[in-house]
Amino acid sequence: MADLSTTYLGLRLSSPLVPSASPLAREVDNLKRMEDNRAGAVVLHSLFEEEILADRDELESTVEARAESGAEAVSYFPALAGLRQGPELYLEHVARAKKAVKIPVIASLNAAEGGAWTEYAAKIQEAGADALELNLYRVVTDPELPGQRVEEAALEVVRSVKARVRIPLAVKITPYYASLPNMARGLVRSGAQALVLFNRFMQPDLDVEEMDARGESVLSGPEAQRLPLRWTALLYGRVDAGLAASGGVSEGVDAVKMILAGADVVMLCSALLRHGVAQLKVVEKGLVDWMAGHGYDSVESMKGVLSHKKVPDPQVFERAQYMKGLMKFQPARAVVSDRDF
Ligand SMILES: Cc1cc2nc3c(=O)[nH]c(=O)nc-3n(C[C@H](O)[C@H](O)[C@H](O)COP(=O)(O)O)c2cc1C
Repeated sequence: MADLSTTYLGLRLSSPLVPSASPLAREVDNLKRMEDNRAGAVVLHSLFEEEILADRDELESTVEARAESGAEAVSYFPALAGLRQGPELYLEHVARAKKAVKIPVIASLNAAEGGAWTEYAAKIQEAGADALELNLYRVVTDPELPGQRVEEAALEVVRSVKARVRIPLAVKITPYYASLPNMARGLVRSGAQALVLFNRFMQPDLDVEEMDARGESVLSGPEAQRLPLRWTALLYGRVDAGLAASGGVSEGVDAVKMILAGADVVMLCSALLRHGVAQLKVVEKGLVDWMAGHGYDSVESMKGVLSHKKVPDPQVFERAQYMKGLMKFQPARAVVSDRDF
């Protein structure tokens, strides 16, 4: 039997397959189902910084102020008031989750900027979470705000959360930094023991009948894999932190790729929302079958085998491939000739 165990955030997990933060985690029964379907750990849905502030009657002013800087709650919670869970309920949920499952429970805090709310990191630890994932989500719309200040603010959030907890800390980031490897190292220096690649931006759409913008969450497909795959491969061996790949994983082969790129943990969200929690076992079977067919008896021995540092053609991850890819692309003949432009 293949050894699927992996080390992540200093925790020994029985499997690299971990459900990422999603509404599924709101129900303790779903967490049990995840454990029954052999998840290595569970990540709870996020407690939003704005919810903590709301509890202190600061919601309106904060959301207004943050609308400018683009905090995630503005896009996740259009009808914020109706969806609020409240920080105390979240802490109770962490405690219930811990009682319900034996696998590690990773709580999630979602924030755009630092502040007194970071004391909730300590409360989450007290509630029994085995680790904390800090999701940094900010859409900067102020043209006067330079990137360096945005990065410094993000590092400050990590430092202030880290200062409040002893449990391991993962930081879930977006890919949109000018120098992601440099930012990744900064996050690690600030206290991140693992990086989760990536947080998905909920891209809004336009409703051309209602003449308005719409912001519903859309489940991702396999095309979402490429970004975390590339950056897992590029960051493997370059940052002193664990790596969790999140995005577009729904089949065993997807998990295989992420681990070969260098992931310690492979996260699933859309696939579980689409197919149900039992999809975890489908992915696990695909992973185990691939390992058996390719002579790997442990996940540890697969890690990073096709990372940027080890892959036979590392240029594939770089600019050179972009050039080659564009130049080699052949439009289908019919597309060129049949259409009347
Ligand atoms: C409906 C929905 C809710 C989500 N809620 C959270 C959340 O509370 N916190 C968080 O960090 N990520 C959240 N995510 C992001 C996912 O955890 C995951 O990182 C992202 O969807 C990419 O993975 P996927 O392609 O497997 O869906 C959510 C995603 C979806 C689709």
